[in-house]
Amino acid sequence: MSSGPVLKVTDLSVTFRTEDGPLSAVDRVSLEVGDGEVLAVVGESGCGKSVTAMSLAGLLPRSATVEGSVQLDGVELIGADKRTLRSIRGREVAYIFQEPMSSLNPVFTVGRQIGEVLQVHIGLSRLAARRRAVELLKLVGIPSAERRVDDYPHQLSGGMRQRVMIAMAVACDPKVLIADEPTTALDVTIQAGILDVLRALRERLGTSVVLITHDLGVVADLADRVAVMYAGRVVETADVHELFARPQHPYTSGLLAASPSAGRHAGTHRLNEIPGLVPVLAAQPDACTFADRCPQALDICTAKQPVLEPGGHQVACWNPVREPVEV
Ligand SMILES: Nc1ncnc2c1ncn2[C@@H]1O[C@H](COP(=O)(O)OP(=O)(O)O)[C@@H](O)[C@H]1O
Ligand code: SF4
Ligand SMILES: [Mg+2]
Repeated sequence: MSSGPVLKVTDLSVTFRTEDGPLSAVDRVSLEVGDGEVLAVVGESGCGKSVTAMSLAGLLPRSATVEGSVQLDGVELIGADKRTLRSIRGREVAYIFQEPMSSLNPVFTVGRQIGEVLQVHIGLSRLAARRRAVELLKLVGIPSAERRVDDYPHQLSGGMRQRVMIAMAVACDPKVLIADEPTTALDVTIQAGILDVLRALRERLGTSVVLITHDLGVVADLADRVAVMYAGRVVETADVHELFARPQHPYTSGLLAASPSAGRHAGTHRLNEIPGLVPVLAAQPDACTFADRCPQALDICTAKQPVLEPGGHQVACWNPVREPVEV
């Protein structure tokens, strides 16, 4: 087994062709996810979390230009041929979307949909695939799985549908599971159950997880490490305990400030609102993108873009926060 990261993203940039010209959505993002590790990616809406995640799974539309490197167990995915991508997508890198209904087919039973993944990717027979589908439904905590396997998506509640999506995602024992706000569309009471499923899967299957969320409770509950994104860039990354105790980027510190008990109750703590808007990236290539909103900006902040320095706790900032915050 390799000792390096399972997923290694280096200088990933994504630009969309739009009617108003190119739109830079992700700018030189670097991330690493170790074996069995849960990396949380947090940040306000529009900061590039989903675009980053989709580029890892090869799910971006044709209007996107992707640069940089995404390596899965040392295999380069950016620019890889269709066959390589097809064998990886859904099998070695699986994706759970925010809205399960949009990704389940309404005209097939859930058993058939999970079974198809197994038939296509692993070559199981129809019967074996059905048997395995029942096992997977049990694994994700669906009661009476033997009966539920013949249900159509509309017969299931939102929470149960999300469990089906997770069952489908882990059907082929992926190396990396990407969960993009997996609980955001669900009621708070149901969210906790879904998080329990993710936690159990990670413990039982040892799957590495990239967890996108804006819920700090979820982060503290599940993540080993956190990458904070702002305006298409990673501005800080650290071990989860370190980040909560000693946030160094003024943006992170601002996000955490209004969540005194973040981490104790999943589903109840949202990121703090910070005054101002997330800027358009290309507008200020040689400045810190947070400068307009930053309470501790210096002259250099609008003249030169800060970059992440290597290390365990990385921050891209000319004037980082140094005092620990109360959590
Ligand atoms: N298909 C697309 N075409 C053009 N722009 C897009 C597309 N998808 C996302 N974007 C833009 O990319 C930026 C990042 O979006 P996204 O990754 O979805 O943010 P979030 O952090 O909320 O997941 C946003 O400005 C968004 O409008
Ligand atoms: S680089 Fe400057 S403007 Fe940007 S976050 Fe740090 S202190 Fe604030
Ligand atoms: Mg998103």
